[in-house]
Amino acid sequence: MAYDILCVGTALVDSLIRGFDPEPISAAGYRAESGTLSVGGEAVNEAMAAAKLGVRTGILCSLGEDEAGEMVLGALRRCGVDTGAVVRPREHPTPVTTMFVNADGTRRSITNGAHRYNFHPERFPERLASARAVILGSLFRAPFNEPEVVQAAAEAVHAAGGLLFADTKLPNFRVLTLGDLSASLPLFDCITPNEDEARYYTGQSEPEAMADTFLEKGVKSVIVKLGARGCYYKDRDLSLRLPALPVRAVDATGAGDNFVAGFVCERLRGADIETALRFANACGALCATAVGASTALKSREQVLELLQMYR
Ligand SMILES: Nc1ncnc2c1ncn2[C@@H]1O[C@H](COP(=O)(O)OP(=O)(O)OP(=O)(O)O)[C@@H](O)[C@H]1O
Ligand SMILES: [Mg+2]
Repeated sequence: MAYDILCVGTALVDSLIRGFDPEPISAAGYRAESGTLSVGGEAVNEAMAAAKLGVRTGILCSLGEDEAGEMVLGALRRCGVDTGAVVRPREHPTPVTTMFVNADGTRRSITNGAHRYNFHPERFPERLASARAVILGSLFRAPFNEPEVVQAAAEAVHAAGGLLFADTKLPNFRVLTLGDLSASLPLFDCITPNEDEARYYTGQSEPEAMADTFLEKGVKSVIVKLGARGCYYKDRDLSLRLPALPVRAVDATGAGDNFVAGFVCERLRGADIETALRFANACGALCATAVGASTALKSREQVLELLQMYR
């Protein structure tokens, strides 16, 4: 196998506007405290975290032949992510999200047509078959908002004997239900929604009932990420709730992506579920201690040290 982990899905650039002042300073001029660019998208955040945690990591995503695409590629390569499977269609620009971050940390974001583009990862079955574990980031967003695409990609991973993980997102353009994915859900080893996403797709209000709904659809295990309240895990034999590490959080953007990367890395290293969840919790907490999805986490040793500190 070429990779331990292959992350498949969203890659983009975020344009972050902090401290936006809605009072115009001229007819069409506004002020903000800062405007910065950072790379993002679940597949990118997960791949950068996994590579820093020391496993062989690749990414299957689409980037335009533009400056934003070069920026994402550079960031991936600096972390040690293999970019050999990146697709670069000339006619499709790299998605750029404009994000307004308010002083209290709440956000509003603007997506555009580029976010809808489906690069059809299922057309690269040899790539999907090249990793011990594949993470789809994310189900319900392009390119994984078409049942046939999810099904074909899941089958390619399954046929090659890889473990299949999927993070989720709330829909932006195309809306799918769990029922639409009924044929592919039994192929997933683990699905990792946050609480809002799990509530939205299952209609349940408690993490255990949310997990049960996914398990009834055939998913083998479920992690409901609970932000500052930690996480909940359930499979056929085990039900486990872990509190979050009490860090001083400043920005939880990407905490979920760091969490998922941490969980998969430790499972591949042979850790049992509880140990891998504790490690994942620490990755998520660490991410939340700095602004940006890929700022705080540097190495596996650093995560182990954090876990020691809160023992
Ligand atoms: N404020 C926090 N303090 C400590 N740990 C946190 C905090 N926020 C998140 N975490 C850790 O990170 C994990 C994932 O965070 P969260 O539940 O916000 O996922 P998410 O909504 O998928 O994040 P994103 O989509 O922004 O990557 C949590 O399960 C928890 O372990
Ligand atoms: Mg998430």
